[in-house]
Amino acid sequence: MPAELQWGGRFSGSPDAALLAFGSSLEEDLLLGSFDVAGSRAHVKALLGGGIIDAARAKALDDALQTVAAEVADGRFAAYARSSGAEDGHGAIDARVRELAPGSGADLHTGRSRNDQVATALTLYVRDRAERARDLCVAIARDALARAEDALQRDILLPATTHMQPAQPVLLAFWLSAVAENFTRAARRAGRVAADARESSPLGSGACSGSTLPLDRQAAATFLEFAAPSRNALDAIGDRDLALDLLHAVARATLAASRVSGELVVWATPAFSFVRLGDEASTGSSLMPQKRNPDPFEFIRGTAALIDGELLGALSSLGGLPLSYHKDLQATKAATIRGTERGLAALAAFRLAVGYVEWNAAAMTARAGDGYTVATDIADALVARGVPARTAHSLVGATVSAAERAGRPLAQSDLDELAKAAQLDSPLAAPLDALTSVRAKQTTGSTSPGAVAEAIAQLRQVLDQQFGKVAS
Ligand code: ARG
Repeated sequence: MPAELQWGGRFSGSPDAALLAFGSSLEEDLLLGSFDVAGSRAHVKALLGGGIIDAARAKALDDALQTVAAEVADGRFAAYARSSGAEDGHGAIDARVRELAPGSGADLHTGRSRNDQVATALTLYVRDRAERARDLCVAIARDALARAEDALQRDILLPATTHMQPAQPVLLAFWLSAVAENFTRAARRAGRVAADARESSPLGSGACSGSTLPLDRQAAATFLEFAAPSRNALDAIGDRDLALDLLHAVARATLAASRVSGELVVWATPAFSFVRLGDEASTGSSLMPQKRNPDPFEFIRGTAALIDGELLGALSSLGGLPLSYHKDLQATKAATIRGTERGLAALAAFRLAVGYVEWNAAAMTARAGDGYTVATDIADALVARGVPARTAHSLVGATVSAAERAGRPLAQSDLDELAKAAQLDSPLAAPLDALTSVRAKQTTGSTSPGAVAEAIAQLRQVLDQQFGKVAS
């Protein structure tokens, strides 16, 4: 039996080395190291609080665990763990503690199972990474608002599309504050996951039914900043809801990044030329000397798809599993960690890359009116003069069709014709250019400069109230 396995007494033979390697979770557990050590320190509090070990032993264990924490933080622990022969991160930490505190180390696993240990470490990981995801989303939203304020000053316009076809003119500031809204929702979602990961401490649940030893579970919960110990051991060790919630929150945030990235990739094409990516965010071709590729945004898009795959994998790994711990949960954990780490990297890259986007304000603004994007406003102007909406739609549709055939934009003469066709008793006034169009919008939440300024101010307040004033 390999010395570092945490079990073996009831076996006479050793596990096949290849099967042991197949079932190892050491690599992903290395990312949980600091959380697993914190969980172990909390367990020492539970042992001490319950009078199961004395203060001297508790101190010896805690000193050893603090040394392990330092070795995890400076990276030394990974090499130790890989050469330790341990089956997982829990085993490696246990082995190191027994080395560091020869007289007391063997007490650490008293009344504890790797089942409550991994549930605890994973919950602490969820809390930490959900907070990181939240902070990144808040930072991205704030960056977008700052750029929106700048774009608003400069009256930069663009044609909003539906079905990728020119629809209506909007302010670039409006598009940017839409981006900020999306990331604010993503931040709120991640923040809720982080808050949920402070509620219930699984530690002290044992393998599946609690312990006959009087563990002070409240002391452990308090040390780890949980509100209370979990209520049901069987549920606590088999529950992976928070891991799924984290993965979903990260998937949603990266989805937001993916959609903006997709739009920027299109805007960077010469056919659009709405944006230029700085050299810092571009790559070239090894063959085609002229190429300038929006590489980071493509890879953010691709990475977001991988995270969706991890989310689906994590969900599927739990399907049909009876309550309690099953080794399948190691697959859930691996998918959660892979998806989360990739997602956070994608969000950080997104924040960096969008900083290198330069607006081609002239091209955007010049194209905002292309494709007859003011047509709806003209139909609205007819409606405001008492023409039924269907009639107005049809009249303006015919006007657009005629202008398109003649290959010219809409002009004052078209408004005059429309006034005649609709039998108005005075001239028809309606926007004929993009800037007049956005200024004519009257509803809250619209693209009019006033509404956009208002929306930006309100969203700033929401961000300050919910996430604090200091930019993260
Ligand atoms: N390596 C395991 C995991 O990541 C730890 C829990 C193992 N528990 C057990 N009874 N085998 O899920």
